[in-house]
Amino acid sequence: MLYAGKWDRAGLDYQALKKQWHVVARGEEVSAEQPKAVRLLGEELVLWRDGSGQIHAWKDYCGHRGAKLSLGCVKKGEIECPYHGWRFDAGGQCTRVPAHPDQATPSSARLIFRHHAAERYGLIWVSLDAPQRPLPVFPEWEDDSFRKVFAGPYRYMGNALRSVENFLDASHFPFVHANLNGDPDAPEPLPDYQVFKDEHGLRTSEISVFQPYGDHRGIPVTARYTYSVFNPTTAYFVKKTGDTERFCTFLNATPVDEAECVIWLIVAINFGADLSEEKILYRQDMVFEQDRLIVESQRPARLPLDLQQEMHVRSDRLGIEYRRWIKELGLAAAGQDHVEPRAAALMS
Ligand code: FES
Ligand code: CO
Repeated sequence: MLYAGKWDRAGLDYQALKKQWHVVARGEEVSAEQPKAVRLLGEELVLWRDGSGQIHAWKDYCGHRGAKLSLGCVKKGEIECPYHGWRFDAGGQCTRVPAHPDQATPSSARLIFRHHAAERYGLIWVSLDAPQRPLPVFPEWEDDSFRKVFAGPYRYMGNALRSVENFLDASHFPFVHANLNGDPDAPEPLPDYQVFKDEHGLRTSEISVFQPYGDHRGIPVTARYTYSVFNPTTAYFVKKTGDTERFCTFLNATPVDEAECVIWLIVAINFGADLSEEKILYRQDMVFEQDRLIVESQRPARLPLDLQQEMHVRSDRLGIEYRRWIKELGLAAAGQDHVEPRAAALMS
C-alpha cells in the first residue's frame, strides 16, 4: 500500500468514513496556481484547481518516480510535477514529458489516483471512495438573515468521531464548560429527549438547558438545542433563545488519522448585530479548547461501536444512536449484513 496510515482499515469506523464527504480545507486556501497538501484518513492528498476553477483531490503522488505533486505547481489548468516537470490534466492523463517533447505521453491513468472532490459552504470536501451519502445540508447558509462566522480550524490529537460525539453531548456542559454553559456545583438534570433517524441522518427533539452564565451577551438563558447529524463527521445544532433568536453551528471534524482531527466550524446567528466577530470567536475558541483536553484524554482513541464497551445512561441516547448508525454505515460500506446491536444495559 502506498501511504499506509495507522487506521485499522478493516474497522467499521474506517469503512464508513472512507465513503463519506469530509472537509479538508477552506476554498480560499487553494489558489489557481498553487496545489495544497492535506491528510485524510492517513492518506496524503493533493488539492488543486483546473482551468475552470474546479477542485481536484488526488493521491499526493506522481506515477513517474513517486514525488509529491503538492510540491509542484499548476500551469495552464494542469498540475505539474516538481521533479521532471511532467504535466497531468484534470482527467489524470499525462500531457507533457519535457525530456521527450516529441514522444507520445505515457498513459498515466493507472498511476494517478483520483478521489471525489467538491466545494460548498466555502469549504473543500473530499471522499476517498464513492460517497454513500450526499453533501450535508446547512440550512442557514443561503439565508441572509443569518451572519456567518468561520471559527477554527481547531486541531485535536484525538479521534474525529469522539469529537463529534462530544459536540452532540449536552450533559457535559456544566463540567467541561463550567461557569460558561452550566454550574458544576448545581448541574441541571438533562431532560429526556428523542432521537429520530431518516434519510438525512439523525435528529433530536428539543433539549432545554438552563445556562446561568448565559449566552454570548452574558444574559442567563434557557437555551433549547436541536441536534442533527448529516454524516458521521458533520453535525449541527440550532440553539434557540427567546422566540426568534437562533444560534446555529455547523461542525465538521476531519479524520486526519486515527487520533488526529481538525474541526471546522461555521456559526450562523440571527441576533446580536452589535456582537463583534471577535467576541463570538473568543467564546468558540475557549469552548473548543476545553473540549480538546477531554477528547484527547479519551481511551481508546477510537469511538467504540460495540455498545457493551462503555456505560450508557438515558442522556447518552444521541451518542448511542450515533454509534449504532456509524456501525450500520460501516457494515453497508463493507457489504455486510446489518445485525441490530443489543441495547445497552443502563439505557432504559
Ligand atoms: Fe513526477 Fe518524475 S517524479 S515527473
Ligand atoms: Co463541549
